[in-house]
Amino acid sequence: MSLRTVPHAGGKSFTILQPAGASDSDRAAFAASVRSGLLGTPKTLPWPYFYDEQGSRLFDQICELPEYYLTRTEDALLQDHADALVAGWESAPTLVELGSGSATKTRRLIGAALRRYGTLHYVPIDVSPTFIEDSAAALVRAFPSLRVTGHVGDYRSELQRVAERLPGPKLLIFLGSSLGNYEPDDASSLLRQLAWTLNPADRFLLGADLDKDPAVLEAAYDDAQGVTAAFNLNLLARINRELGGNFDLDRFAHQARYDPQRRRIEMHLVSLASQTVTVPGARVTATFAEGESIHTENSHKYTPDGLRAMAAAAGLEEEAAWTDARGFFRLQRWRLSVRM
Ligand SMILES: C[S@@+](CC[C@H](N)C(=O)[O-])C[C@H]1O[C@@H](n2cnc3c(N)ncnc32)[C@H](O)[C@@H]1O
Repeated sequence: MSLRTVPHAGGKSFTILQPAGASDSDRAAFAASVRSGLLGTPKTLPWPYFYDEQGSRLFDQICELPEYYLTRTEDALLQDHADALVAGWESAPTLVELGSGSATKTRRLIGAALRRYGTLHYVPIDVSPTFIEDSAAALVRAFPSLRVTGHVGDYRSELQRVAERLPGPKLLIFLGSSLGNYEPDDASSLLRQLAWTLNPADRFLLGADLDKDPAVLEAAYDDAQGVTAAFNLNLLARINRELGGNFDLDRFAHQARYDPQRRRIEMHLVSLASQTVTVPGARVTATFAEGESIHTENSHKYTPDGLRAMAAAAGLEEEAAWTDARGFFRLQRWRLSVRM
């Protein structure tokens, strides 16, 4: 584990922890995932690899799009209910955020917690070094009394380590409906794993996108400006950059489809011709028929009952929940009910 204290203008600094040798093992894991995904039937590519530097910037642009209601709706809920969301402790809980991204919405909680408690320690965990470094710099600039310790890494392995070292209670934060990227069984095991790191005084804040009109959903994942298309295609560009692939990005098209049975948006990259692609860094040559797709991401949509059932299956229970007037998005604060 390497630890860097990053000095920042105005005398403020923040700390970043990154596992030693991470880039070599990340590259090997990326190559192995690309190989197995392109050799599988149907072909798939792993969504966590969207978030290199370029992908992280594109995701920030997606959050600003008129069609992408998720960020705006969740941000409004966080703004309206920030005081209640951070209340309940005598002194400040540590705010630990999973897949924190640019942490823009988290500012609502940080501001409210600082007003209530005076001091605060914020611990974002994200696989994207760009996101961790840029967001930490922006936050210490905006909130001079905030302490930030950023962790670059996979929250599925990092969280346990982080949780063991915290001196007091924590508010675990998982926003952006990121849970929806996991298949239902994987989402349930992730929730059980998160529940294991909770103590009775801890709380878990989850932002989840609710099921709705498929036209609204499909537009949110296939915007008119083509930013989501660029985000999806960047996965192929990343394979070309990092693994020496020869994907021709003009010969693949972005597609977002709603599957009503599985209640999820699927993102695909559809081959516009029959073609062969070679990725030397992943030791794979893949042939594509015209119209064949690579399935790159799922975004599952939820119902309030479904969310409560998922909580119960992980030994958690709903303490409070907030939904916007259109019923598009839901924030829920969960606590431990039984240790599973
Ligand atoms: C959809 S973005 C959401 C960002 C932010 N939470 C929001 O609500 O806008 C998902 C974020 O999770 C990060 N991420 C994805 N899988 C991860 C993992 N296993 N461990 C840590 N970070 C992860 C990505 O780098 C990205 O920043």
